[in-house]
Amino acid sequence: MVDKVKKIWLEGELVDWDEAKVHVLTHSLHYGLGAFEGIRAYRRTDGRTAVFRLREHIDRLLDTCKLVFTVPRFSRTQLVDACLHTLRENAMDEAYLRPLVFVGDGAMGVFAPDNPIRTMVVAWRWGAYLGKEGLEKGIRTKISSWSRNHLHVGLPRAKMMGQYTNSTLAKREARMAGYDEAILLDTSGQVCEGSGENIFIVKNGRLYTPPLSVSILAGITRETIITLAREEGLTVSEEPIIRDQLYLADEAFFTGTAAEVTPIREVDDRTIGEGKIGPITRRLQQRYFDVVKGSDDSHPEWLTYLR
Ligand SMILES: Cc1ncc(COP(=O)(O)O)c(C=O)c1O
Repeated sequence: MVDKVKKIWLEGELVDWDEAKVHVLTHSLHYGLGAFEGIRAYRRTDGRTAVFRLREHIDRLLDTCKLVFTVPRFSRTQLVDACLHTLRENAMDEAYLRPLVFVGDGAMGVFAPDNPIRTMVVAWRWGAYLGKEGLEKGIRTKISSWSRNHLHVGLPRAKMMGQYTNSTLAKREARMAGYDEAILLDTSGQVCEGSGENIFIVKNGRLYTPPLSVSILAGITRETIITLAREEGLTVSEEPIIRDQLYLADEAFFTGTAAEVTPIREVDDRTIGEGKIGPITRRLQQRYFDVVKGSDDSHPEWLTYLR
C-alpha cells in the first residue's frame, strides 16, 4: 500500500490526496493511452534533497506525450516545477515521483481526439523496489514466456501506460512462479529488459547491455550507469545479447529509477557467477548511490536541489 501524503498536483493545483479523483469514463482508464514517469528524490549526505535527473525525466515524459498524441497543456518548466512543488508541499525529503499525462473523459471509442489531456504528479515514499535484501544479495529471475512488445506493436521510446500490461503479465508470471523478476526477450530471442528495468551483464571484465535498437526503454539509469562505468575505466558495449550469454555471464544486474542497481544472482535456476553480488556490480552500485544520495558531486548537472 502506498502511504498517503497531503497533496497531489492535479492540473496545475495542489489538491488534497482524497480529492484527487477522476471520472470512471476517463479514456486512458479504458484504452491505456497516456504517458508517465518514475523519478526519485533522495536526501543526500549533506542533508539536502536532490531530485535525480529531473529534467531528463520530464523530457522523456514529453517525448512519450508526442509519440502518443497526449500533449499536456503544461510546459517543461511548469512540469519540473510541479514535481518540486509537490515534494515541498508534502515536506518530503525522499520520494518517488509519478507524473502522469492521460486522456480524460468526454467521448468514448478509441479515437476521441477532443477529450481533455490531463496531468497529475503524485509523490510517495518508496524503498528498494526489488527489496533491500535484493539490493545486497541479488535476486532470482526468470525468462518470461511473454515477449517484449515487438517494434511493430509498440513504441519502445515511450513510457506509455498501455504498454505496461506486457510488463505486468511478465512480472506476475515470474512472481507467481516464485521468482523476483522477469526478463523479457523479443520475438527473435534477443534479451531486452526486465519488466521495469534495463539489464547489464559482465563477462571477462567488460559490460554488455542491449542496444537501443531493440525493444527496450531508453532508461535514464541505464545511461547513468554507462557513463559512470566508462568513468571507472570499464568498457561498455551496447550490443545484442542472447539468452545463453545471460546464463554464462560472470555478473548481471538490473538498472532503473525504482530498482536502482539490483544484482541478479540467478536466471532460470542457473547461478550467475558466484550467486551473489559481483565485484563490478558492487562497484557500480556504490558509485550510483554515491552520486544519487552520497557525497559524490561529480555530476551536478544531474541534481535538482529542492531548496
Ligand atoms: C520497462 C522499463 N525498462 C527500463 C526502465 C528503467 O528506466 P529508468 O532508468 O529511466 O527508470 C523502466 C523504468 O522506468 C521500465 O519501466
